Amino acid sequence: MTPVRKVLVTGSGGLIAGALTRDLGDRFEFTGLDIGPLDHLAVPNTVGDLSDIESVRGAFDGVDAVVHLGADSNQNAPWSSVLPNNLIATRNVFEACRDAGVKRVVYASSNHAVGMHELDDPYCRIRAGDYEGLDPDNIPQIDHRVQIRPDGQYGISKAFGEATGAYYAENFGLEVACLRIGTVNRPNRPTEVRQLATWCSHRDVLQLVQRCLEVEPFQFDIFYGVSDNKWRFWDIDHARQVLGYAPEDNGEDYRDSL
Ligand SMILES: NC(=O)c1ccc[n+]([C@@H]2O[C@H](COP(=O)([O-])OP(=O)(O)OC[C@H]3O[C@@H](n4cnc5c(N)ncnc54)[C@H](O)[C@@H]3O)[C@@H](O)[C@H]2O)c1
Repeated sequence: MTPVRKVLVTGSGGLIAGALTRDLGDRFEFTGLDIGPLDHLAVPNTVGDLSDIESVRGAFDGVDAVVHLGADSNQNAPWSSVLPNNLIATRNVFEACRDAGVKRVVYASSNHAVGMHELDDPYCRIRAGDYEGLDPDNIPQIDHRVQIRPDGQYGISKAFGEATGAYYAENFGLEVACLRIGTVNRPNRPTEVRQLATWCSHRDVLQLVQRCLEVEPFQFDIFYGVSDNKWRFWDIDHARQVLGYAPEDNGEDYRDSL
């Protein structure tokens, strides 16, 4: 496979995109696209609204891969924002990729596509910090094969994105990796007890994106974006096997700082 070199990052003004373009800038030639504002960015950028495909098509020309991060990232976002910024925008990204001949998409999905699993035992107890009778090494893991169970409009939009990715992979030959990202935050550490299970450090999420961009050809897959947390309940064995993911962080190291 010709290595992925030119990478368009949507949502380039955001948290994860900022870390990505800063820390992996020596491996990939990044361009960005965001609705704005874009004052502080280190990579060439297009200002555009992903919900208007004609205004953004040009940004997809000549790139090898797209990391699609642009969205309303608020898990409680109202439908009036989720519809344009997550559903329509994501369909437009895949359509623009097909049209421009982009070969690979890394799609920022979310744990919220399957968030209702978290209300089941023992996950509801783990996220509340009640570990009574639980062995952290024997927690049944929520993996990439579980039933889609969104926990809100945002989660619905992420499930839609995964379904759209599967459609474009099977019908148009795009390679699509979906990352069901856990909790990536600005402090870059867990800030509440749930995040001891769900946290993903900046360097671990960047490693996942990098490996999705560099792995051998594939059709469609789903991975969880979570660090190797002691109380993790999302599977990372699949990412270890397929991507060679080797997380470096564990939220437990920050328990005393909560
Ligand atoms: N941070 C997390 O914990 C987390 C967890 C799960 C999933 N995700 C997903 O990962 C992605 C990146 O997350 P983040 O935390 O960096 O988010 P962020 O909110 O910091 O960045 C999102 C960016 O997308 C841009 N954007 C929104 N609508 C747009 C549109 N219509 N056209 C163009 N740009 C648009 C915003 O301006 C913003 O700069 C998002 O898709 C988010 O849903 C993040």
